[in-house]
Amino acid sequence: MSKITVIGTGYVGLVSGALLSDFGHQVICVDIDHEKINKLQQGEVPIYEPGLASIVEANCYYKRLSFTVSFKEAIETSKVIFIAVGTPAREDGKADVQAVLKAAKEIGTYINEYKIVVDKSTVPIGTGKKVKEIIEAVLKEREKQIPFDVVSNPEFLREGSAVHDFSHPDRVVLGTESKKALNVMKDVYGVLYLNETPFIETNLETAEMIKYASNAFLAMKITYVNEIADLCERVGANIQDVARAMGRDGRISPKFLHAGPGYGGSCFPKDTKALAQIAKENGISISLIDATIHANEKRKKSMAEKIQKAMGSVKGKKLAVLGITFKPNTDDMRESPSLTILPQLVQQGADLRIFDPKWEKEGKWRLEQIKDHIVFCQNEYEAMVGVDAIILLTEWNQFRNLEFNRMKELVHGKYFFDFRNIYQRKEVEQYGFQYYGVGC
Ligand code: UGA
Repeated sequence: MSKITVIGTGYVGLVSGALLSDFGHQVICVDIDHEKINKLQQGEVPIYEPGLASIVEANCYYKRLSFTVSFKEAIETSKVIFIAVGTPAREDGKADVQAVLKAAKEIGTYINEYKIVVDKSTVPIGTGKKVKEIIEAVLKEREKQIPFDVVSNPEFLREGSAVHDFSHPDRVVLGTESKKALNVMKDVYGVLYLNETPFIETNLETAEMIKYASNAFLAMKITYVNEIADLCERVGANIQDVARAMGRDGRISPKFLHAGPGYGGSCFPKDTKALAQIAKENGISISLIDATIHANEKRKKSMAEKIQKAMGSVKGKKLAVLGITFKPNTDDMRESPSLTILPQLVQQGADLRIFDPKWEKEGKWRLEQIKDHIVFCQNEYEAMVGVDAIILLTEWNQFRNLEFNRMKELVHGKYFFDFRNIYQRKEVEQYGFQYYGVGC
């Protein structure tokens, strides 16, 4: 059992801290955000992630998990220190690593004996080395010689299924030059090691690269299937059958082959841009990534155009919007396709009735600029009252079994835009709706 500190209590930090404590470790999570830590100390989990709240509660109860704003307390008492802070995109597309470097300074300030510093944030290649240099520089200022090792341990969990992903990873990547640190990390992930999860042991730079290469590949895979979907639409083919058949080929795999309104979220848009910038800085052009970024931007914009084209015009029309988060089972709206599509529809004269099971956290402020044209509703049926069209943007489970008989009575028009392909055309059209999927 190791004593662990996790710096940062966002989606990755909080899930990692909670699950590591669930693995039996003593974990202390630290954050500069006093309000957030206050809430966590009261047992309130500030993000919506299925299963997370009960794990936090149980491990706090057994005193394996605690929260603090004191870096001193957290760092001094732990052997392993995870950095899991945000690395948002800067204006120029590069990843902003300021929070990571700041965390390194805190570690340098309070380190009192041998520690293992583990970077879990997605960071440009070379950041692990910078972290090492910063800690060394602070130690020099303090006139102290304290040994420490740096490990890159990228995280591959997805929002909405983070608890499962963290505890059932496809692989654990550990990048470090230190055998000693590697052995401690195997102990940290001992539960997974015993379950025969593959461990990839490599150097710092490679581990950092693995994360960007993986995320960018997945973004590219989605974009590929989205573009094939457009072609399917033109030639009368069905993307769902195409993707299903492609996915049966073990070399392709069925995952991340779902056509939709474009990828969003806090990772793919940011990480593809950061990778393109890293390549540029190194005099390399990864043209597939450049094309992916461009195609995804274009795709999000084309969704509103698709609606307009089908309806003739949306001017003066009322539209029901089902789902505004970037994916189901999260309250996160960062880079959600809805943030591109909805302002465009309003600009063209539409009024919106929105329902998302988690709209309350971010919906109002993220869509502030079009607020006069939005009514937020308490359920999907309320959103449909008197509308000319229904637009399904996020595939929440509760939208998978809509009562079309009931909807017929509520809805004024007959357009049904299913941008996640969760319905079959025939199924919807038998109720008198006109069905518009993506690539089918
Ligand atoms: C992504 C990666 O999947 C994780 O492995 C990684 O750890 C994470 O980024 C991160 O870097 O932190 P996440 O963004 O939470 O996870 O969610 P995804 O399930 O990957 O979805 C991303 C976007 O792609 C969503 O907008 C989703 O709707 C879209 N998507 C996904 C599709 O349009 N089609 C698909 O087949 C799959």
